[in-house]
Amino acid sequence: MKNTHHEKPRVGILTSGGDAPGMNAALRAAVRTALEAGMDAVAIREGFRGLVAGGDAFKPMAWDDVGGIMHMGGTVIGTARSTEFRSREGRLQAVQNLLEQGINRLIVMGGDGSLTAADLLHREWPELVAELVATGRIDPEIAEKFPSLALAGIGASIDNDMVGTDMTIGADTALHRIAEAVDGIGATAASHQRTFVVEVMGRHCGYLALMSALATGSDALLIPEAPPAGDSWETILPRRLRAGRAAGRRDSIVIVAEGAIDSDGRPITADYVKQTIEKQMEEEVRVTILGHVQRGGAPSAYDRLMGTLVGHAAVDDLLDARPDTPPMLVGVRHNRVTRQPLTECVEATHE
Ligand code: F6P
Repeated sequence: MKNTHHEKPRVGILTSGGDAPGMNAALRAAVRTALEAGMDAVAIREGFRGLVAGGDAFKPMAWDDVGGIMHMGGTVIGTARSTEFRSREGRLQAVQNLLEQGINRLIVMGGDGSLTAADLLHREWPELVAELVATGRIDPEIAEKFPSLALAGIGASIDNDMVGTDMTIGADTALHRIAEAVDGIGATAASHQRTFVVEVMGRHCGYLALMSALATGSDALLIPEAPPAGDSWETILPRRLRAGRAAGRRDSIVIVAEGAIDSDGRPITADYVKQTIEKQMEEEVRVTILGHVQRGGAPSAYDRLMGTLVGHAAVDDLLDARPDTPPMLVGVRHNRVTRQPLTECVEATHE
């Protein structure tokens, strides 16, 4: 193996899973905090895929590399939904790449899936390092130098799908985008006295649907966490919309989370909701699927600020990390930056 000798402690930073507006602010803060503290900051491009690929995917960052990115949506270091990292061989290669680069401090930004994967990497680190030594892929000297992985997870996903932080980076921006879109739809709905079914993102999480329904005063919503019992909703929903019309309401909006299900776990699609309403109301119903527009665009001020605070805090923690420091989720609770044990957050999220 290459035995690159790095003088300074090095922190790797990657973004993973669905991109989230505000990731760039967190990256900027993390890189600059690391440099300021005398560490090297290395961006690992394309998320876990880049971690497994190594080589050019590892990019040492300078102060100016993260200039002028705060206002941009997405993530400038790229992201991916990696299948490579799901295999043990992929993770073994990832550890080899990190050791070759002298990195045993890592920041992973992502949602539930990405942080679960990061937690697994942390747990497997000692045995993967031992295997790399046993098979001659790394020098025992290096293995001794890096007995553990210091890991900080940052919840970043528009879904707001992590226990351990009140908000994940990107959720606030997505909510703004949805509220704007639903306001627009409301105007055309009212003009025609129509019902619109609006599908919002959230494969397993109804946060965006619930909060956007509240923020726009929508008439009904369907989310995965609260499946309607039986099929009575198919009668109740159109009845409620009819009552609204009778009382003079010109627009009706039903928000459906992408992952909405019934009590038997069967998906309730926006199209099915449309058909159900049309059957019992004498009017045409339109479906709007907001899709990836919810994830794009400039981050809100909140996501920039929160990204900056947690990116800074994550590097601070890694600077002080000792071999027995457990991985932490750096997030916010009651408007304060907080740390919670990552493993517990991941387990509670799955529950
Ligand atoms: O994880 C965020 C998210 O936007 C989910 O709400 C959505 O289900 C999914 O990503 C869409 O993923 P993709 O980028 O693969 O289309």
